[in-house]
Amino acid sequence: MDGNGRWAKKRGLIRTKGHEKGVSIIEDLADYAFSRGVKYLSLFAFSTENWKRSSTEVNFLLGLLKNFIINNIARIKDKNIRLKVIGEREGLSPSLLKQIDQIETMSKDCTKGTICICFNYGGRAEILHAAKELSGKEITEESFKDALYFKDIPDPEIVIRTGGEHRISNFMIYEMAYSEIYFLNTLWPDFSNSDLDAVIADYMGTERRFGGVDQ
Ligand code: IPE
Ligand code: MG
Repeated sequence: MDGNGRWAKKRGLIRTKGHEKGVSIIEDLADYAFSRGVKYLSLFAFSTENWKRSSTEVNFLLGLLKNFIINNIARIKDKNIRLKVIGEREGLSPSLLKQIDQIETMSKDCTKGTICICFNYGGRAEILHAAKELSGKEITEESFKDALYFKDIPDPEIVIRTGGEHRISNFMIYEMAYSEIYFLNTLWPDFSNSDLDAVIADYMGTERRFGGVDQ
């Protein structure tokens, strides 16, 4: 979800206004994605590297996650949506961790779709975590997948990066081995249902061979 800061700057606003707007589009976008048959929507909200930002911005982003949970906790079960927060727990406050546990437990059996909020998440940290967990044990593709944070989530078919940069920035680097990757110039707060439609339409026209050849 890149481009919040630039979205705000273009309007003469402070960066945090961009983050606020960026979060505000998530609920409708997720509803739309699930209505189109998407089953898993993973959002990169805060990376293990984002702690380098100013403490004002970091605290604001932590507060946004907290508010997102508070705003959704009452409705998430009615909407039949499962919410997971994926990333390192270390560094998050006990009260935030408690809220995360609460919403995850509450929504764990919901089946319409899963939203993964990747928060304090880094792909390399995830791989290191899996490697440490498996030390001394047999390592196979299956056991490795089971030791990742995304263990019960299928690998993404589509990865979208908004904001115009052509890089992955440590997101799901293990899981996206076969993903179709879309780099959009759209700034995240401007990302709309029709942008998602365009990506899905393009994706439906591609053929995935997983290293094989045409039939
Ligand atoms: C949002 O966009 C990404 C987050 C870490 C929340 P940015 O804050 O990176 O926005 P730009 O790149 O400065 O526009
Ligand atoms: Mg950015």
